[in-house]
Amino acid sequence: MKLKELGRTGEKLPVIGVGTWKLGFERQNEIESIRYAISNGAGFVDTAEMYGTEELVGEAIKGSNVFVATKVSPHNFHKEDVIKSCNASLKRIGIKQIDLYQLHWPNKSIPIAETMSAMEQLVKDGKVRHIGVSNFDIKELEEAQAALKSNDIVSNQIEYSILVRTPENGLSNYMKENHITLIAYSPLARGAIFTKKYAPVGALLSEIGTKHGISASQVALAWLISKPNVVAIPKASSYLHTKQNVESGSIELPEGDLKKIDSFLPNGP
Ligand SMILES: NC(=O)c1ccc[n+]([C@@H]2O[C@H](COP(=O)([O-])OP(=O)(O)OC[C@H]3O[C@@H](n4cnc5c(N)ncnc54)[C@H](OP(=O)(O)O)[C@@H]3O)[C@@H](O)[C@H]2O)c1
Repeated sequence: MKLKELGRTGEKLPVIGVGTWKLGFERQNEIESIRYAISNGAGFVDTAEMYGTEELVGEAIKGSNVFVATKVSPHNFHKEDVIKSCNASLKRIGIKQIDLYQLHWPNKSIPIAETMSAMEQLVKDGKVRHIGVSNFDIKELEEAQAALKSNDIVSNQIEYSILVRTPENGLSNYMKENHITLIAYSPLARGAIFTKKYAPVGALLSEIGTKHGISASQVALAWLISKPNVVAIPKASSYLHTKQNVESGSIELPEGDLKKIDSFLPNGP
């Protein structure tokens, strides 16, 4: 499993983490899959108070050394609500400290300075190690960073996949220049790359995959994590999907194949 620096913290993060949105339908299998991922190098699990999966994550990670990322929902961005949410997440996950606490979406109706003051309080109190955001554009990142007194925004979790290329319109470069890790969510386009609607994308990924003896999904993930500041958090329910995704974290595609994918659908679907 390759590792990348988180922001400019000096700390290394596995390039493939575990997404957990919509887990819970096959609880025991999913718990086993998360444990498999952790013991095979993907010791980075992403959840959110909104997902209803924090308890499942807590059960899966019990006793293991894993980087835990969770999120506070936008309606909880007032100072006392951020603190309450964090305490509730810590309790549900069963940990004493959250490694990465993220603002799930921007919320224009609550001043970012108030929310960030709560986030910094949580860092001071030892309940949170790093502050991140999610679904923020460049302007929102600038405002959020300006509202912090003694911490950096280390990451922005945004949608990025072969089908959704919006970060390539400036945001990804801005984040690279400012040492903000891009955590790519829905990196398999929520499974859309395997559907008839996107057959040409599937065909390209399969063609490259066949050449290297890997799956189309592994090509899609290996392409994403070939970008300098990108890590990805695919969600998988099954052991087979989890295994494929974890293995992607060690795959390096030749430059020619990466370029082929880069130039495919350059303006999105
Ligand atoms: N910050 C945000 O606003 C936000 C928004 C959306 C998502 N997220 C995060 O990002 C994570 C991942 O995104 P996502 O769940 O939307 O979509 P995704 O990871 O792009 O796709 C998940 C879909 O792909 C399938 N899949 C997974 N691995 C596969 C493989 N190796 N081969 C074939 N199919 C595979 C899954 O099937 P199975 O389940 O059957 O394995 C599922 O249907 C979420 O779980 C969540 O943690 C964050």
